[in-house]
Amino acid sequence: MTNTLQTMRKISKTKNKGALKKTLKPIYRSKVKKFTLRDSNSLEWGTALKPAFQDEQSNVRIYSGDCVDVLQQIAKAEPNGCIDTIFADPPYFLSNGGISCQAGKMVSVNKGTWDKSRGADLNHEFNRKWLEACQKVLKPNGTIWVSGTAHVIHSIGFAMQQLGYKILNDITWVKPNPPPNLSCRYFTHSTETVIWAAKNINSRHLFHYHEMRRMNNGKQMKSVWPILPPATQEKEFGKHPTQKPLELLNRILLSSSNTGDLVLDPFMGSGTTGVAAVQLKRKFVGIELDSIYINTAVKRIQQAERMPRHEQLPLAQRLF
Ligand SMILES: C[S@@+](CC[C@H](N)C(=O)[O-])C[C@H]1O[C@@H](n2cnc3c(N)ncnc32)[C@H](O)[C@@H]1O
Repeated sequence: MTNTLQTMRKISKTKNKGALKKTLKPIYRSKVKKFTLRDSNSLEWGTALKPAFQDEQSNVRIYSGDCVDVLQQIAKAEPNGCIDTIFADPPYFLSNGGISCQAGKMVSVNKGTWDKSRGADLNHEFNRKWLEACQKVLKPNGTIWVSGTAHVIHSIGFAMQQLGYKILNDITWVKPNPPPNLSCRYFTHSTETVIWAAKNINSRHLFHYHEMRRMNNGKQMKSVWPILPPATQEKEFGKHPTQKPLELLNRILLSSSNTGDLVLDPFMGSGTTGVAAVQLKRKFVGIELDSIYINTAVKRIQQAERMPRHEQLPLAQRLF
């Protein structure tokens, strides 16, 4: 670029307009090419992959099945990577027959077979497998966010290090009103960690620093985010036991993606990432095992598509 500028300066000094035009052409072309490449985040990945739901207008695709299988198909179709940003909320392996407290009632912590621990080694093997599949579909400068509690987040961080991801931040999501600890033998769990990482050490990741600062009243945004759990309206189409607040996903996508970017959630659940992506005009690919959650996600995403952003569900109150 410096060389090109120097050449342009030289040419303009000689007032040779023809030569200047010739030099400018390739610059213009390369800009157009870059834009076209960025804009061609096609969601067409061959006939092997049939979405359970698709919406051409807002560029949403949902695949039913195991995320590793689906990600491998995408990687086959796009070996150089095609995803700009991933948010993953994998099983926490917490469904161990214990109890918790919800709305003042004692409830089982069992969420489904997908959340059952298979022991530390097999859990880690699973984390490595899906993280490897995610790394393959990320663009060279793409980033991934993974949420988890202490039960899973250390395995996730270690697997990321083993795979050569570049860890950028660990965000502490603080829940201001956590359920009480019924056993009274531990501190009340009130945080989750969200690790943010780039594809590898060479990645030049995107970070909308000024937008984050603006959202934080002109001060640098810290890595501790107090955010309320999902509002009741966010659950109007069905409940998911580990649904994330829309506010969390909005902040994640606003900080690390652009309008038109392709966002992926390999453990889509009730579709929170999809709703945030549609609201913020990003393209979205979701993968989910359970058809009940796919139905909930489709309803939520369709509602987000119908309403202009200013009429959409109020975001959870920002607490800072
Ligand atoms: C922690 S929840 C995600 C909740 C989601 N973030 C939301 O806001 O609703 C994990 C989801 O991943 C799904 N799941 C578990 N294992 C999976 C796999 N191997 N492939 C695809 N989905 C999976 C589960 O059915 C569950 O809905």
